[in-house]
Amino acid sequence: MPMWDALYSRALERAKDALPRTKGVLLAYNTNVDAIKYLNPRDLEDRIEKAGKDEVFRYSEELPEKITEIPHLLGGILWSIRHGKAAELFVESCPVRFYMKRWGWDELRMGGQVGIMANLLGGVYGIPVIAHVPQISKLQASLFKDGPIYVPKADGGELRFIHPREFNGDEENLTHYIYEFPRGFEVFGIKAPRENRFIGSADDYNPNLYIRPEFRENFEKIAERTELAIISGLQALTRENYAEPFEEVERHLDILNEKGIPVHLEFAFTPDETVRKKLVEILGKFTSVGLNEVELASVVEVLGEKELARQLIAHDPVDPIAVVKAMERLAEITGVRRIHFHTYGYYLALTSYTGEHVRDSLLFAALAAAAKAKLGDVRNLDDVDKALDVPVNEKARDVERRLKEEFGLKKGIAKLDAGQLSFVPTKIVAKPKSTVGIGDTISSSAFVSEFALRA
Ligand code: AMP
Ligand code: GLC
Repeated sequence: MPMWDALYSRALERAKDALPRTKGVLLAYNTNVDAIKYLNPRDLEDRIEKAGKDEVFRYSEELPEKITEIPHLLGGILWSIRHGKAAELFVESCPVRFYMKRWGWDELRMGGQVGIMANLLGGVYGIPVIAHVPQISKLQASLFKDGPIYVPKADGGELRFIHPREFNGDEENLTHYIYEFPRGFEVFGIKAPRENRFIGSADDYNPNLYIRPEFRENFEKIAERTELAIISGLQALTRENYAEPFEEVERHLDILNEKGIPVHLEFAFTPDETVRKKLVEILGKFTSVGLNEVELASVVEVLGEKELARQLIAHDPVDPIAVVKAMERLAEITGVRRIHFHTYGYYLALTSYTGEHVRDSLLFAALAAAAKAKLGDVRNLDDVDKALDVPVNEKARDVERRLKEEFGLKKGIAKLDAGQLSFVPTKIVAKPKSTVGIGDTISSSAFVSEFALRA
């Protein structure tokens, strides 16, 4: 695809030039430690036998709401393998937390949307970021890259912005155990159709959207130092605990809106329907939202569009006409000005404004995503440059053809009644190192580079 190769190279150069213009990004609220375990089929089968195969299989067909016993954990892992889909459950039981700790991990990595984005934007792109870190333990702090990454510290009456390592925190470790499996991974005849992961969160802070006093008390001052904001971490709330944190989040949104700071919501899978409805209700307070096909389907479902929701998860690659319909509906109902959809193979953005920079920011994001998939971590801009060699997804040709026929797409851009549609075919890494955090890499790279390129 020579046209796309040329567009990719040019977008990369433009984005690299533009990114340093960004003065500051606020990232709130979820940061944690990811303990990544690459599953071994024999080990997993042994554990399932020991825990009771029948019970584990029951939960692998219907996910439990949370994890209170070992069969819930193993059943959840098996559910993800069976469907090739990501899932995340809160681990309430201490004995299960201890079981996961003893099972161990292969790698400790920065986790949570905020942590991952802080390391990418601050540590790799060199953009100053202020991050909300609910608990700053020694381990958590050590996972932050060097660079302009700051957390607020209130000393007496004075508010300082320091690197998380300088905070010298000795707070709790919020560990999320990530069980990764490759495509074709097989236990008891159940074969994973795609690489993915299951997450068990041994964490009492992020699932309740704990917001630190430094943030509650000084939010105006924090907001003044930034020109963009990305919000995430609302996905784990439930109908029982969402009310109070939502009030605080809305207060933050009002302050950001008053200051004219564009805010992106990283949607993430939100299992609780009440919370999802509430998110849709406040979406108009955000400038932008990022989501994948499962998340978009879950949103469309609470809008009452069941058939459209079904279409969104029925095909691979996802039917782009259904995606555009869903995005238009969401924009119309909520007033959100930018919707960035990502799926395996392509991205689409619906914006109320126009310009090539929207498409170029998606191209840049696809390079960052390919680097993340290939290496597990984007270490520097050189890694992003090298992603130019990853081939463009062939399956996206058909998606592009359909968008051309339906909307008269040219070089990835089409004019719609609701604004502009931007499309890019992405680069797909055949054997990714891991899958966790790619979505965060895509959304933050696209949002931040789009605003930098606009100037
Ligand atoms: P999420 O499910 O929100 O974390 O986002 C995952 C996204 O990562 C997908 O929508 C794809 O766009 C992208 N992705 C997944 N696997 C790969 C891969 N092997 N190479 C490049 N991008 C990938
Ligand atoms: C969720 C998980 C976290 C992971 C992140 C990646 O926030 O809780 O463990 O790092 O998703 O996107």
